[in-house]
This record gives sequence, structure tokens and C-alpha cells, in this order.
Amino acid sequence: MELLLDTANLEKIRGALDKYPVSGVTTNPSILGKEGSADFISTINSILEEIGTLPLHVQVVGKTKDEMVGEGLSLSKLSRNIYVKVPVTKDGLGAIKELSKAGVKVTATAIYSSIQGILASIAGARYLAVYCNRMEGSGIDYENVIDEISSTVKDSVVLGASFKNAGQVVKAFYAGARAVTVDPGLLDSALSSPLIESAVGAFRSDWDEKYGGRSISELV
Ligand code: E4P
Repeated sequence: MELLLDTANLEKIRGALDKYPVSGVTTNPSILGKEGSADFISTINSILEEIGTLPLHVQVVGKTKDEMVGEGLSLSKLSRNIYVKVPVTKDGLGAIKELSKAGVKVTATAIYSSIQGILASIAGARYLAVYCNRMEGSGIDYENVIDEISSTVKDSVVLGASFKNAGQVVKAFYAGARAVTVDPGLLDSALSSPLIESAVGAFRSDWDEKYGGRSISELV
């Protein structure tokens, strides 16, 4: 299973790499648009520098197949760790096919239906990004779509995306996703429940009472 970070914010990436078992970073034009630098290449290079050998998924913005292929080829030259994100439209599918054939690693994105995921897999995409929260908001059963895709495709990884809470992440994994991409803030919130804090606090005060506040390192 894989956990990716859905952010282009260097501080968040740095903080999350320190704490979480991170397998890579995903971006899209909206995520990049939220960050300070208007210099696309320097933002991408800074993220690549921050994450070392981990994969970075970067989306094309071209409207036609040829534009997407051109952008994908250029992006893939930036680093061998780049995955080119291509939306699964009619043109996008053609671009996925051509880029994959050229050896470019492709993440199919903007997936709202099983047929998009299955076709993108046949076209050669390595990851299939399913937009869970957006689907839920439109009354589409994302768990069923993930289940159908993951039970059908063998050569691509279903990547749950577009999450707004930890419950959706768990449901995506349970439905068959083998990877998810989430904003680090969602992980921070999921791990800051008062129940967890109260359990950990009680263990610590029982320890302090018994061992006078000394650390395990001092005693071992
Ligand atoms: C990642 O691949 C997607 O672009 C992203 O998760 C979409 O998230 P959003 O629905 O919060 O914009």
C-alpha cells in the first residue's frame, strides 16, 4: 500500500516526510496555483529536491492530445521520478496511450467512472486517480467504482484521491485502492483525536508516577 502527499507546499511536504510513510507527491494545476512562486519549473524542482528519489506526479494542462503528449514528454525530461498526470478524456486517453508507448510513466487522473479507469489502464497508465470526495459530492458511489476498477485491472494501481476526511481514505483502501494521496493536514487531524491524546497522556502520567519521570533511555 502507498501513501502519497497531495500538496505542493514545501513546508507541509518537509513536515510530512519527517513523520509519515510517504511514497510520493501528487500535484495538479490548482494545487500548484495555491503556492507562492509563480515560476512553475522552480516549484517543481524545489519539490523534486525535497523528496529525493520519491515520485512526483505533475499534470498536463493541454486541451488536445498532441498538446498533452508534448507537455508530458517535456515534463518527463525534468526527472526520471516524474509521473505525468493526464485526465481521462477522449484526447487524454490518446495521450496516455502515446506517452506510455514512449516509456513515460503516466498517472491517469480525473477518474469518476469505472470505464475511465479500465480504459486508462489498457492505454498503459500506471496509476489511476479516482476522485473520491468529488464523486461523493455528486452522488457517485466511489467505493463501487474503486471496487470495479481494482477487481478488473491488473497492471495499474488504483490511487484514491480528492479526500476531505480520513473515513473516505479508509473506505477507498477497503474498496480496493492500493494507494491514496492526501493533504498532510488530513493526516495530522486524523491523528490528533482527543481520545488518542487522553490515552497517551494517561500512560505517561502512570509512568511518571511509578518511575519518577525518568525516560526509558535512562533506565535501559
Ligand atoms: C490528485 O491527484 C487530485 O488532483 C486531487 O486529489 C484532487 O483533489 P480535490 O478534489 O480536493 O481538488
